[in-house]
Amino acid sequence: ASERPTQSGAAPILVASNRGPVSFRTEDDGTLSLRRGGGGLVSGLSAIDDPNAVWVCAALSDADRAAARQAPEGRLDRAGHDVGGQAVRMLDIDPETFARAYNGVANSTLWFVHHLLYDIPTKPAFDAGFRTEWAAYRAYNTAFAEALAAEAAPGAAVLVQDYHLSLVPALLRALRPDLRIGHFSHTPWAPPEYYRLLPDDVAAEVLEGILGADRAAFLTRRWALAFADCCEAVLGASVDRDALTVTLPQPSAGGAPIGRTTRLGVHGLGADGEFLRERAHRPDVDERLAALREAVGDRRTVVRVDRTELSKNIVRGLLAYRHLLRTRPEWLDRVVHIAFAYPSRTDLAEYREYTAEVQRLAAEINAEFATADWQPLILHVDDDFPRSLAAYRLADVALVNPVRDGMNLVAKEVPVVSDRGCALVLSREAGAHEELADDAITVNPFDVVATADALARALAMPPADRADRTERLAAAATALPPQQWFLDQLNAL
Ligand code: F6P
Repeated sequence: ASERPTQSGAAPILVASNRGPVSFRTEDDGTLSLRRGGGGLVSGLSAIDDPNAVWVCAALSDADRAAARQAPEGRLDRAGHDVGGQAVRMLDIDPETFARAYNGVANSTLWFVHHLLYDIPTKPAFDAGFRTEWAAYRAYNTAFAEALAAEAAPGAAVLVQDYHLSLVPALLRALRPDLRIGHFSHTPWAPPEYYRLLPDDVAAEVLEGILGADRAAFLTRRWALAFADCCEAVLGASVDRDALTVTLPQPSAGGAPIGRTTRLGVHGLGADGEFLRERAHRPDVDERLAALREAVGDRRTVVRVDRTELSKNIVRGLLAYRHLLRTRPEWLDRVVHIAFAYPSRTDLAEYREYTAEVQRLAAEINAEFATADWQPLILHVDDDFPRSLAAYRLADVALVNPVRDGMNLVAKEVPVVSDRGCALVLSREAGAHEELADDAITVNPFDVVATADALARALAMPPADRADRTERLAAAATALPPQQWFLDQLNAL
């Protein structure tokens, strides 16, 4: 980005994220149809009743790029699309640059670092190809910074989201020093000894990029402190762990101003209880619930719903279920494991291989235990939101065992939706564990035998205890609903 100040726009509040609130599909007749996205950020922003607010996101597909090109000045609202409330500016970044930034850097590198996913003896190896990807990541972040600078009114508040956009705060500050800039990390943050796997200049640039914000916020205190630890170890920053501030004491590699202080914040995104309770009782959910009931009969259920994501630890979860069936014959024909693992990041070989491994293991478990009228495991690897809600309603036990997770909203959603109360087996490495530990059954996600023990305890939990715990879990899970989560960040900025 150039240092030349950019002319202001009219938006007093802006959100920036890779994935936006809408996406497009090309229909058979060539027309573009619009789909609205879900998630905390979308419902969070709906709390803002300002017609001038703008959401800047990337075009993720050819259909998105076509829609972005048709929109006057790139603003989808003006193209006649009903994007509901806020204006959306979808950036038409060239597909190669986008793929390198999104797949190469964001999802294969930063995501792997923060979730501790590398198979260390061989990976990572930052070769010349990575340098091309890193240049693309910079270009992609620069495109966001320039679009935000052009849209923002003087003194506007800009909320930049996640690891895709870690360079944006510093780039944007250089263009528009008048803005109030926040960054929010939806992931965990790696401890310094792991974070330093990154090339030194990349490690520094990512931290300095985020420190370009006035405020850098996280889902838990643990991740905020890990970020501060990295700033101290990599940049020599001074950290006040009580006040939660990070100050750069000297000119650093990226030339960040001396003495600038960034405040850290913690906002534990909660489930949208009101939306979920209403949505989970619509006819499409009832229909799927009836089908699941038919398959399960009067047996107990262990339910899990995830993206097919390496960090979600689906394979060890299946191994734990198999261990339970092998070692506790009293549960044979009395339990069904419902596992929904919907497709995610399928451009990456690791994710395709992981999906295949999940399917292979699931088939093995069914082959080992199934009888003429009992299917011990129901696995679906396609996406169906109403079916997920139906499974939540039917859950006796929810299994949420990520190796590491920023928050994990499934752990917060199941207790809200469950019909009869449901025991929660929860990894201590999920951000949600900070808030739900008292009433969950905690597991070390790497310990398959301990996870099987936890499933057995959960299955045998007395109904009254289960109902009490579920009530407290649901209250804790909805303590900070998305709208308030969003407003809190804005007010703190
Ligand atoms: O926290 C990371 C995150 O961006 C979540 O907000 C979201 O659920 C998930 O990753 C989806 O990833 P992608 O946009 O790559 O499908």
